[in-house]
Formats: sequence, C-alpha cells, structure tokens
Amino acid sequence: MKPHASQPIGLFDSGVGGLTVARAISHLLPLETLIYFGDTAHMPYGERSTEHIILYSTRIAEFLVERGAKMLVIACNSASAVAFDVLREKYKGKLDVVGVIVPVVNYLLEHDFHKIGIIGTKATISSQQHEKRLKLAKPNQAVAAVPTPLLAAMVEEGFINNDISRSVINAYLSDKSLQHIDAIVLACTHYPLIKNDIEQFYKHQVAVIDTTEIVAEAVKQSLQKTHLLTKQREAPDRFFVSEYTDAFEKTARLFYGEAVQIEEVDLWNETA
Ligand code: DGL
Repeated sequence: MKPHASQPIGLFDSGVGGLTVARAISHLLPLETLIYFGDTAHMPYGERSTEHIILYSTRIAEFLVERGAKMLVIACNSASAVAFDVLREKYKGKLDVVGVIVPVVNYLLEHDFHKIGIIGTKATISSQQHEKRLKLAKPNQAVAAVPTPLLAAMVEEGFINNDISRSVINAYLSDKSLQHIDAIVLACTHYPLIKNDIEQFYKHQVAVIDTTEIVAEAVKQSLQKTHLLTKQREAPDRFFVSEYTDAFEKTARLFYGEAVQIEEVDLWNETA
C-alpha cells in the first residue's frame, strides 16, 4: 500500500545519538510526526560487526514500518555505513530510505573542498563509505578518514566543552593524516555536541560539517519528491528503546534539547 502524508517518519539509531538528527528534522519540519527507535540493548554499533548491524537495522526498520512509517531515516552513521544499501534494496518501490552518508557526500561534492577529513566510529571509518562515494564522483578528491571511537562515549558521559574533551579531541585531531584539511565531517551522531571544541581546535580555519542539518534537508527533499510532506500535525512523536535505562532518559535530554518520554520494546524476544 502506498504511504500517506499523515503517517510518521521512522528513524533509528543505536541509542541516543540519532536524537541529534531527530532534533534537526523536527526544527526543519515541525508538522511531521517522528517515530524513533534507539537500539540501546546493542549499542555501541561502532564496535559491532557488519553482520550484526545489518541484522539489527533490518529488524528495527520492519518495526518502524509495522508502526506506519512513511519513510525511513537511518539516523546513525555506523548503521548507514553498512546497512543503507540493504535497506534501500529491501524497501525499493515502497518507501524512501535516507541515510546520513549520501546527503553529506552530495554536500561535499557541491562545495569543492581541497582535502576532506572524516571522523567517526570504527564501523563508519572502516566501511570507507564516504571515501568510496566521494571518489566515485571525483577520483582525485583528497580524503583522510580517522576513527575516533572514544569521542561518542566521552560525549555521552557529558564531557563537552571542558579540559577533558579538548584534550581527547586534540589527541585525535593531531593525527598526521589530517594535516592540511580544509573541511572535517562530523560523521557520528554525537559529534554535533562537540562542534565548538572542534572548531576551536582548528581556530575556525577549517569548515566543521555538522551532518544533522544536511540530513534534515535531504529528508525534506525526499518527502517533497514523494508528495508525502504533511500539512498538519497528526500525533505526538514517539521514542522507543530496546532496553530502558535511567541514563538514557538523562542523555536523551542533552541530545534532543528537551525531555522525551521513552517506551521500551524488546524486538528480539518478540514481546513487542
Ligand atoms: N550513533 C553512532 C554513529 O553515528 C555512534 C554510537 C555508536 O557507536 O553506536 O555512528
């Protein structure tokens, strides 16, 4: 059955990180209803194998579609890196799937940077998705991709804009391969929260690319193209997790900018 504009946008992440994407979508498209799934039982995806990330992402996508999602947003860089093609194929001709990598690559190509740095989780960086997609369109594009796995945990623990965050960022970004870049992509859902620290590290001489607004714009374009933009608010947003913790609720406020009410759904034990 063809989706209808009144249905919600389904989005998912390994946990809280995707809430930065949800927030950007809500700001740009305030009438849209969001249905969000954070796979807290399996986070962090950045440390998981490709097979597992695909398995989890597929089940979550099915859940969101069962709940009436009119399109899917993979609001996680690690899941987009390995599961985007799989989900796009699965829902071909039925639903649009937007990940967080393709829109950012398109943005980079439009802006003609000389050398681009990419930082993200181990899963994202080892997939080489940004580099492969960039070089497909622009074979001579200089790219340096560096895994920065401590950063997501650091942000979740609230180390932002302080001596610890600056020192960890300094250690990672001093990597020789990142020398002479003119742009750096924050290819992890958590990094918008340390954008200031990163800009300060580069003394504002390097374009620090927060992917969330670029992804929100891509979601808007997808809904326009498929004639699924809603004209009125249908229902409140809903936030699901695979394992409830108090910590999630607290961190969610930091990432989303406001408190969210969380519902637990155990997708893997079929009690949903
Ligand atoms: N959401 C993940 C990402 O954007 C970061 C956290 C994780 O490793 O699960 O890659």
